[in-house]
Amino acid sequence: MNIILLGSGRVATQLGQALHNAGASILQVYSPTQAHAAKLAAKLDCESISDVSQLRLDADLYILSVNDDALPTLSKQLSLTDRLVVHTSGSTPMSVLEHSSNKIGVLYPLQTFSHEKEVDFSVVPLIIESNNPESLNLLKDLAAKLSTKVLELDSAQRLILHVAAVFACNFSNHLYAISQALLASRQLDFDLIRPLIAETAAKVQLNLPSEVQTGPAIRKDELTIQKHLDSLKDQPQLQEIYRLLSQSIVNLR
Ligand SMILES: NC(=O)c1ccc[n+]([C@@H]2O[C@H](COP(=O)([O-])OP(=O)(O)OC[C@H]3O[C@@H](n4cnc5c(N)ncnc54)[C@H](OP(=O)(O)O)[C@@H]3O)[C@@H](O)[C@H]2O)c1
Repeated sequence: MNIILLGSGRVATQLGQALHNAGASILQVYSPTQAHAAKLAAKLDCESISDVSQLRLDADLYILSVNDDALPTLSKQLSLTDRLVVHTSGSTPMSVLEHSSNKIGVLYPLQTFSHEKEVDFSVVPLIIESNNPESLNLLKDLAAKLSTKVLELDSAQRLILHVAAVFACNFSNHLYAISQALLASRQLDFDLIRPLIAETAAKVQLNLPSEVQTGPAIRKDELTIQKHLDSLKDQPQLQEIYRLLSQSIVNLR
C-alpha cells in the first residue's frame, strides 16, 4: 500500500515507522517545517515536502497526523477526490475531513507517544472508522497488520474514549509531576516514588481501579486528610486538587 503522511510529530513518526516495518510504502512526508518533514522522510526513505501543493495524488492512503486544531484548515486545503484520507485524532469527528475527499476515515492509536521512546504497536488498540464499507475494510486490514487490537467505533464513542484516556494518562502523569515538585521542595528524589507508581499501574492490569483504591480518602481518615491539607496551606491550587480528588474517590465508591 502506498501511503502519504501529513505531519512529522510524535504519532506520524511512530506510526510511519510501524507502517514502514509492516511493508507499506511511504511515498512522502509533508510537514510545514521542512526540516521536520526531512527528518522523518530520511527514516522512511521517502520524499519530504513542506507545501501541500507538492502532494502526490496517487497514494492509496493519506494520514493526517497534525495538531487537532490544524485539521479543519489542512483538510480544506486538500482535494483528493476519491483517495482515502484519515486522521489520527481521538477527539476530532471524522466529518472534519469531509472537504478533503469522498472517502474519509479515522485511524486513532490509543497510546501515549513521544519522540524518543519506540512504541510496540502490536499491543496498541487501533480505533478505526470510515464513511464507506470499502475503506473500512482497507483500514481493518491495514490496522490488523500493525496491531492485534483493532476496534471500530463511531466519533461519539471515540470522544469518550479519549476523555477516559486523558484522565488515565495525561492527568495521572500530571499528578506524578505534582509529586515530583512536592518531593523536590524537600530535596527528596523522585526515584523514591517510582516503585509506588509501578505497583499502582501493575495492580490495575489484574483488577479494576475502583476495587483497589487505597489511601486516606477511601479509609475516611479525616485527621490525616486535614494534616495533608494543612501542609499545602501555601499552595491553594494543590489544596483544591487534593480536596476535589478526595471527594471524587469517596463518590466513586
Ligand atoms: N501524542 C500522542 O500521544 C497522541 C496519541 C494518539 C493520537 N494523537 C493525535 O495525533 C495527532 C498528532 O499528534 P502528535 O502528538 O503527533 O503531535 P505533534 O508531535 O505535536 O506534531 C504535530 C505535527 O503537526 C504539524 N502541524 C502543526 N500545525 C500545523 C498546521 N497548522 N498545519 C499543518 N501541520 C501542522 C507539525 O508540523 P511541524 O513540526 O512541521 O511544525 C507536526 O508535524 C493529533 O491529532 C493527536 O490528537 C496523539
